[in-house]
Amino acid sequence: DKGGWSSFMAKEIAEQPEAIANTLRGRIVDGIVEIPELAGLGADTLRDIDRIVIVACGTASYAASVARYAIEAWARVPVTVELSHEFRYSNPVLSERTLLISVSQSGETMDTLMAVKYGRDAGVKTLSVCNTQSATIPRESDGVIYTHAGPEVAVASTKAFIAQIVALYLFGLHLANVRGTLTAEELAELTEQLTGVPEQLAEVLEVTETVRTLAHWMADTRSVLFLGRHVGFPIALEGALKLKEISYIHAEGFAAGELKHGPIALIEPGQPVFVMVPSPRNSPVMHSKIVSNIQEIRARGARVIAIAEKGDAAVLPYADEVIPLPIAELFMQPLLTVVPLQLFALELSTAKGLDVDQPRNLAKSVTVE
Ligand code: M6R
Repeated sequence: DKGGWSSFMAKEIAEQPEAIANTLRGRIVDGIVEIPELAGLGADTLRDIDRIVIVACGTASYAASVARYAIEAWARVPVTVELSHEFRYSNPVLSERTLLISVSQSGETMDTLMAVKYGRDAGVKTLSVCNTQSATIPRESDGVIYTHAGPEVAVASTKAFIAQIVALYLFGLHLANVRGTLTAEELAELTEQLTGVPEQLAEVLEVTETVRTLAHWMADTRSVLFLGRHVGFPIALEGALKLKEISYIHAEGFAAGELKHGPIALIEPGQPVFVMVPSPRNSPVMHSKIVSNIQEIRARGARVIAIAEKGDAAVLPYADEVIPLPIAELFMQPLLTVVPLQLFALELSTAKGLDVDQPRNLAKSVTVE
């Protein structure tokens, strides 16, 4: 039941504040993360791991790529993200001190299931992040963190994506606690930031009208580019995937630092480019680098749509459009930045008269390899 919404995707985007409140519910107690379901992966095991490999496909792999930065920063464990289907055939170097985390909304993605089985057969510990109760992948894993985002019907994943990042953040904070890599004050501060996310998500949804106008104006666009740095980079990839999936428009995401290593050659007058702008408070150096990137592409005629923290005056002179974000700390910002991109794909698909929920050639759950 779409509950009065024009599509399941529209409904699921709007449900994100509630979905994230559910991901967090009962898991933060006095500034400490508690995940009882980790059962098979106790504190001793988590203290002993020396490496984390996250396997996932599509949007789930971008959620993993965002969380990688946070887990490394907080728990000081090296984390790599592998596409499930690439992992299996890469003869990966694994040991009993490796933790293999799988991320899957459905818990039935065959490529990811096979990667988990491969890891298990190689003797590594396995943890799954999943949105579907009792799905196959969590049943095959030593531990599971359910995202509790509620059923996701639209093929294009939205609320599950944000919930996957939040669940991985909870795990990262738990890991940091058992390994003693963050102080009690730091843990309290970060858990408080997470607790504030549902409210910030509700605030960012207020950009819907602005994005709708932009999407209508761009309905005939043939190609859209997305640029980001650090946690903004996987968000750029996710924004491009959303657009490809439901609007059938050529879209590509790049790491902003790669621009002059090739992609800047694509910039011609009128080329729309979305830029994920980090907050100048959280990362002044990254912020100034992104502002330079914006100047470089603007000088070549790009039409720049900047997604930036409200009040960021530095981008105003160079951006054609600014989509304002609520004030948020470094690792909370990607959870908000992705929302205008989801809305943009939804509105563009709608403007083109396409089936938002059931894009051509795609299935919600890919159960074949
Ligand atoms: O169910 P899963 O999370 O394992 O699915 C993985 C991908 O197939 C999925 O995220 C896909 O990329 C979505 N359609 C993206 O919107």
